[in-house]
Amino acid sequence: MEQGDAERPGAEQWLPERHTLSALRSAAADCRGCELWRDARHIVFSQGKASAAMMLVGEQPGDREDPEGEPFVGPAGELLNRALVEAHIDRGRVYLTNAVKHFRHHASGKRRIHDKPAVVHIEACHPWLEAELQVVDPAVVVCLGATAARAVLGRPLSIGRSRGQRFDGPPTSPDAEVFVTTHPSAVLRLRGKDGFEEAFDSFVQDLQVAAQASAGASAAHESRSG
Ligand code: URA
Ligand code: SF4
Repeated sequence: MEQGDAERPGAEQWLPERHTLSALRSAAADCRGCELWRDARHIVFSQGKASAAMMLVGEQPGDREDPEGEPFVGPAGELLNRALVEAHIDRGRVYLTNAVKHFRHHASGKRRIHDKPAVVHIEACHPWLEAELQVVDPAVVVCLGATAARAVLGRPLSIGRSRGQRFDGPPTSPDAEVFVTTHPSAVLRLRGKDGFEEAFDSFVQDLQVAAQASAGASAAHESRSG
């Protein structure tokens, strides 16, 4: 992409030369690859270490994440935490990120209402996700919802039909196994209604399948490296 090409947004020109998580994180704070930085308080880059075997990809930061600058610290994050505990996944050992790094929203009085990121935002922000996939090189990627799936796999797909399946990794991480599940906010919306327990259990089950794949990949890696 040409420098300053306002017609074709994208984060490319803000990527640092050296791809380490700390270099990416500090460079991303200056990103103007689409308009979403304007109304956000903070970029929410990611949480976790480059050594993580499992990467969880969400949609975009929410109203709670935006001021804190950390992913999944609001209500969806609380539900995710509970599901991770049930699936015996240690959040501290997972790399957590989002398809889009700034909070897309509109104002309604004093409230900031979440807007789903558009394809143009997913694409503009994709260079960051691609660089994260390169650096972390996870054995397993779990896409939380359709936006994450679109960002990771590069095409639209139905969560209902694709959950439970295993997809090949994207070109930057061909060895990764990719799984798709629901977004924790979709489960949260069912709280207090019929179907909540079932939706939560299915979410946990999807995470368990991913955790098993990750454990299998680590065992294979250890046996290969003797
Ligand atoms: N929802 C997301 O997709 N990501 C977050 O970081 C928080 C809520
Ligand atoms: Fe850059 Fe992504 Fe933020 Fe847009 S959402 S400004 S591409 S970091």
